[in-house]
Amino acid sequence: MESLLKEWNGENVVIKYDHATGAWIFIALYSTKLNQTAGGTRMKSYPDFQAALQDALRLSEGMAYKLAISGLGFGGAKAVISLPPDFDPQSRHDLLRRYGQMIQNLGGLFYTGSDVGTSASDMDIIAETGAPYVFGRTPAAGGAGSSGPATALGVFSGMQIACEHVFGDRSLNGRRVLVQGAGSVGSALIEHLRSAGADVTFSDVDEGAICRFRDDLGLQCVPGEAAYSVECDIFAPCALGGVLNAATIPQLKCRIVAGGANNQLAEPEDAERIKQRGILYAPDYVINVGGAIGIVGMETQGWTKARMESEVIAEIQDVMQQILETAAAKDITTEAAARQIAEKRLSA
Ligand code: PHE
Repeated sequence: MESLLKEWNGENVVIKYDHATGAWIFIALYSTKLNQTAGGTRMKSYPDFQAALQDALRLSEGMAYKLAISGLGFGGAKAVISLPPDFDPQSRHDLLRRYGQMIQNLGGLFYTGSDVGTSASDMDIIAETGAPYVFGRTPAAGGAGSSGPATALGVFSGMQIACEHVFGDRSLNGRRVLVQGAGSVGSALIEHLRSAGADVTFSDVDEGAICRFRDDLGLQCVPGEAAYSVECDIFAPCALGGVLNAATIPQLKCRIVAGGANNQLAEPEDAERIKQRGILYAPDYVINVGGAIGIVGMETQGWTKARMESEVIAEIQDVMQQILETAAAKDITTEAAARQIAEKRLSA
């Protein structure tokens, strides 16, 4: 735990053991320079305490870069609720209310929204004690809803720029896309891709998602480990992080990696590994910024859904263009080019 915290460049972490359930709660505040931070709440079980803390720390850094790109006036943060193996789903609401109280106690330093394992309805429960510091409640409760659809729209529009760069044509018509994970972002992305005429294959661990997309829509589904080596134009990671690593990168048979998952690279060297393979990588925190821009924009700027969609598309396409131009001009990785842009915006 010491080395994890020593290596982290963020500010501080609030840690609480929830005695009633045995869950650990981590709120990692990466930068409070703007007096307010934002980040989703990830709720799942982890192999151990360290793994959960590490996820919170790394995800908060990703949020810092993501929010720097967005210019919404929030610093980066992330919360992880690490559920015990014997977690009783009946205690979920009370746990979320106690977590909401932690957010309340931070007095506006931390705003949250949904992430892996939490939904807009969970945000409603958290807001019972944590309001007004909760984004993405259900529309019935006055919120902008799940961030999944806005994230997917952003990923799709970023893919168009990547296609233009690699194939000389923005259209996804006829492009073969492998979507890894058909959850809240992946499933909405699949809809956009199908409407655009792409040839979609997907993989998922969840039986429900598999049945829906394979049996109802007739999409091809591949088992988890096979996903990396499927021959395709675009590989779209939309599940958990760390999927691009020394073992998987050599297997890729795609031209572009562009997806909604956070922290896709297992380690910084992976950006160079992807570049060496001649694959274009759309930096995760750029192409997946749509959820944060969309939900925060609708709730703090009063954007309509239509305005939100045009803001998400314009912002991501513009930054993607800049990144691809910078990376090509300087012969650096797209990750390094994105970092330069984020850092410039952070210091502005
Ligand atoms: N899951 C979102 C993300 O990683 C978290 C988020 C949702 C942040 C809504 C802000 C508002 O970007």
